[in-house]
Amino acid sequence: MKSLGTAVIGCGSISSVHLKAIAGLELAELKAVVDINEELAKKTAETYGCDYYTDYKEMLQRDDIQVVHICTGHYLHAPMTVDALKAGKHVLTEKPMAENKASAHTMLDAAEENKDVQLGVIFQNRYNPSSIRMKQAVDSGEFGKLLCMKGLVTWSRTPAYYETEWKGKWATEGGGVLINQAIHTLDLLHWLGGDVASIKGSISNDSLEGVIEVEDTAHAHIEFRNGVKAIFYATNAYGRSTPVEVEVIFEKATLQLRGDTLYLLQGDTSTVLAEPVKNDLGEKAYWGVSHQFQIRDFYAHLLEGKHFWIDGPEGYKAFRLVMDIYESSKLGQRINYTE
Ligand SMILES: NC(=O)c1ccc[n+]([C@@H]2O[C@H](COP(=O)([O-])OP(=O)(O)OC[C@H]3O[C@@H](n4cnc5c(N)ncnc54)[C@H](O)[C@@H]3O)[C@@H](O)[C@H]2O)c1
Repeated sequence: MKSLGTAVIGCGSISSVHLKAIAGLELAELKAVVDINEELAKKTAETYGCDYYTDYKEMLQRDDIQVVHICTGHYLHAPMTVDALKAGKHVLTEKPMAENKASAHTMLDAAEENKDVQLGVIFQNRYNPSSIRMKQAVDSGEFGKLLCMKGLVTWSRTPAYYETEWKGKWATEGGGVLINQAIHTLDLLHWLGGDVASIKGSISNDSLEGVIEVEDTAHAHIEFRNGVKAIFYATNAYGRSTPVEVEVIFEKATLQLRGDTLYLLQGDTSTVLAEPVKNDLGEKAYWGVSHQFQIRDFYAHLLEGKHFWIDGPEGYKAFRLVMDIYESSKLGQRINYTE
């Protein structure tokens, strides 16, 4: 079977999820890893049996590498993506696309200008059985019209979590709980609700004053073009990281997601519609287990010459909601979408 040569830039926390997925994938062959921390790059290369670099631009010169995974801090996604696309590599970048809208637009432009290669953005939770089932319920209309939704993310992040060079700062992380943790839930609401008409939101730093510049808490009200309304609350200031909750109310039933288990509520009965896939990767449970499914799907699209569906513009949607909540909070106004 044909496979593509692969490199991973950034050997920090999330990289092992990518590296394990690549190792288990016959469509990909890991050629190199990159990290400015040489010791970490070397150790990772030894573990996965590949070459290592400390300068990603050197790695980009290799002809036997066709796909680059970007697993670095948010502010590095845009320059690395642009360089890799220009070097003729396909790019799969971790969420969020970037740390601000201007940077994200350089990525969208580079993808437009280099159409021989593809840009994919990680939103692995779209591959969860529960997400797929919710989307199916919306699209099929089996429970009648979608009426409204809510998303709740109540997690815990201690000061120690932010002790890195890029987290907790506007310039490098681009925000806090919204851009880093809750963007997955916003992506899900967007995917289910469709085109957005307007959003109003507010952010605050409730528990980490003096520790982080960015918000640890946010809420928002989203109006979709089809009339559906969603409320959303996210915080890193809770005492525990508890399962994400999403509620989707239709004319004839309600779907409730708790963690990755999806319940169907109709009248007095509650049934389980979708259950989580077991996490046997030894990774943090809240990351979910679906990276492997998205990564496989990305490579399958590349090898079949098909356009990958979570591309730059698709990855931009939840990111734009995040950015517009920041803007709305600053202005104290609702942001209207004209396109
Ligand atoms: N999809 C998910 O569920 C999920 C979960 C966790 C993290 N993430 C995302 O993954 C990305 C990385 O997060 P993390 O927690 O692994 O970060 P991290 O800080 O643990 O790792 C980043 C790595 O990048 C390296 N690095 C910095 N500058 C570099 C450069 N110029 N060249 C090469 N390497 C460089 C650092 O040395 C570090 O090892 C972020 O975008 C984050 O939001 C996604």
